[in-house]
Amino acid sequence: MIGSANGARVGITGLAAHVPERVYTNADLEQFVDTTDEWIVERTGIRERRFAEKHEALTDIALPAAQEALEKAGLQGKDIDLLICATVTPDMMFPTSSAIMADRLGAAEAGAYDLLAGCTGFMYALAQAYGMLAAGLSQRALVVGGDVLSKILDWSDRSTLVIFGDGAGAVVLERVERGGFLGFELGADGAGGGNLWLPGSGSRHFDEPDSFVKMNGREVFKFATRVLVSSAEKLLAECGKTVADIDVYVPHQANRRIIDHAAGKLGIPEEKVVVNVDRYGNTSSGSIPLALAEAEADGRLREGELVLMTGMGAGLTWGSALIEWTERTAA
Ligand code: COA
Repeated sequence: MIGSANGARVGITGLAAHVPERVYTNADLEQFVDTTDEWIVERTGIRERRFAEKHEALTDIALPAAQEALEKAGLQGKDIDLLICATVTPDMMFPTSSAIMADRLGAAEAGAYDLLAGCTGFMYALAQAYGMLAAGLSQRALVVGGDVLSKILDWSDRSTLVIFGDGAGAVVLERVERGGFLGFELGADGAGGGNLWLPGSGSRHFDEPDSFVKMNGREVFKFATRVLVSSAEKLLAECGKTVADIDVYVPHQANRRIIDHAAGKLGIPEEKVVVNVDRYGNTSSGSIPLALAEAEADGRLREGELVLMTGMGAGLTWGSALIEWTERTAA
């Protein structure tokens, strides 16, 4: 699916992120699996990540981000009419985490649902919320992306334990006078789905106790390096932009080598690339909003700048969004 915005200006008017307190360094993981700090840093660029405590679930991590995003937009929960939560680790399948959060935020008028698209979930959710606002179905939307993958990792599997982390981010979408989203490109390749899967998680294998993430790292690596480039190129062409127009590039934070490869192939210079995978690992649906919030906190997102975001993950799925950044001035 690909499309450029046709007239409706919808932008991000509030943005925040939140991660669990507890830091696990690479050295900390050496007590669970046969690995080394040197291997993890060299192959992934990751130095540490946050893992939730036993009692913490997705909404515990995501609610502070949602609350802060609303405050930054100058809004309260009651002001939003749509809440989409992208996650593969909801508190439970139902009630949905979005319904739980809508209640906690006092968003009594909001339609609320969870969205599953692996690590690309946040990009899919942005596109959906954009469409709802552009069509006039929604006036103000809260889009949350977050995961607590530590809960579905096999803590004895070194191929997955070292790359993931927990975290969440949230954005408020509203109509804006200037800038806003220019377009989206979304895709899925179910044929590759078996390279990153959670077999015991649904109705197919519900009676099997195996509910841990399984991954064929090399295949996912090849897929990731390919789609980060192709998705960005397709979207830029659709929106009549070139790589030279991009001011800030926010790729999914899966692996430093994947990010460097994509940026290199696209021709985006290092200083335009947002990277925080070293400190958080791959936080799945939380990855892009977490990186975006950090870029904003660092003063890297300025009025009129063109920001490219591309995610990829389980499904296999991918998705890009292009936005002309607006300071928080909701129309
Ligand atoms: N510590 C030490 N050694 C490890 C290890 C770890 N945590 N994980 C794997 N190894 C070993 C392997 O067993 C293998 O040993 P062998 O050569 O004796 O068989 C060796 O390291 C190389 O393994 P390989 O899988 O080829 O490494 P890699 O360079 O491909 O790196 C990943 C592995 C997982 C870091 C990399 O493939 C990757 O990032 N893939 C994409 C994953 C991803 O992004 N997933 C989420 C998408 S949203």
